[in-house]
Amino acid sequence: MSGSLSGKVAVVTGAGRGIGDAISGRLIADGAKVFALDKMLPDEPRERVTYIETDVTDPASVGAAFKAVDDKAGQVDILVSNAGIQRVGLVGKISFADFSSVIATHLHGLFLCASEVVPRMVERGAGGAIVSIASTAAFVGLPGRGPYCAAKAGILGLTRALSLEVATAGIRVNAVAPGFTRTKFIEQGLKDGSLQEDWMVARVPMKRLARTEEIAEAVRFLAGDESSYMTGQTVVVDGGWIVQGIPEAPTWLQTSAS
Ligand SMILES: NC(=O)c1ccc[n+]([C@@H]2O[C@H](COP(=O)([O-])OP(=O)(O)OC[C@H]3O[C@@H](n4cnc5c(N)ncnc54)[C@H](O)[C@@H]3O)[C@@H](O)[C@H]2O)c1
Repeated sequence: MSGSLSGKVAVVTGAGRGIGDAISGRLIADGAKVFALDKMLPDEPRERVTYIETDVTDPASVGAAFKAVDDKAGQVDILVSNAGIQRVGLVGKISFADFSSVIATHLHGLFLCASEVVPRMVERGAGGAIVSIASTAAFVGLPGRGPYCAAKAGILGLTRALSLEVATAGIRVNAVAPGFTRTKFIEQGLKDGSLQEDWMVARVPMKRLARTEEIAEAVRFLAGDESSYMTGQTVVVDGGWIVQGIPEAPTWLQTSAS
């Protein structure tokens, strides 16, 4: 397999479907060997991806998964911490169990996987790249999504701190913050009524949701030598959502209307 990631080994969590699956596809396309860690194995597994049933909230499960990667590949060059869940509810009503499960999946998941890969990367001495999937929710408040906003903001904090800890070892730690992306994750919100496609799209300056491949492209950039001097950063991929101050701006102030 040729490509600029040829010879690299990547671990992608939550890669059984959605954004994680697209990330696996993108890394494979450039020659990486990919291990997909997910608590659910996919109905249609990708060729050239090794799936390992893993719960990223469970230290023992994560430890066993990385042991399996050691046995099969003997190295890890890239970690993409992507596994995620959503639980919607107001503070005062949402249960501690639901709050904790969101924090555990996103934030503990990153911590546990990074705790496995950092010592391996340092010992091998060949550097590495860690990329986390955050969200625009890391920067703004979304009512009913307190656990999710807290978890995603926490990911950015850990990304910055870890980037400093491992900089001299040549390990870069960055994050991608997607906006609304068409996956089962969003479909769940459409089904329970906490999201509605018309107002979601209306609020995006580019007037559409993201495709999973567009998120994967940013991850691919941060995972490879193309971003060799970037660390501790977050790349927002949201069609302009987060920088928009006045959604109601008149159409004559938009190029497409002129
Ligand atoms: N879809 C969006 O609009 C959007 C926007 C911003 C950020 N994100 C983030 O992108 C990431 C991927 O989201 P998606 O839209 O592809 O969601 P998805 O629900 O389609 O996929 C999530 C995957 O994570 C896996 N997973 C969940 N809990 C796990 C656990 N404990 N251990 C291992 N695997 C686990 C699931 O089995 C699933 O395969 C998440 O971190 C999500 O928060 C998504």
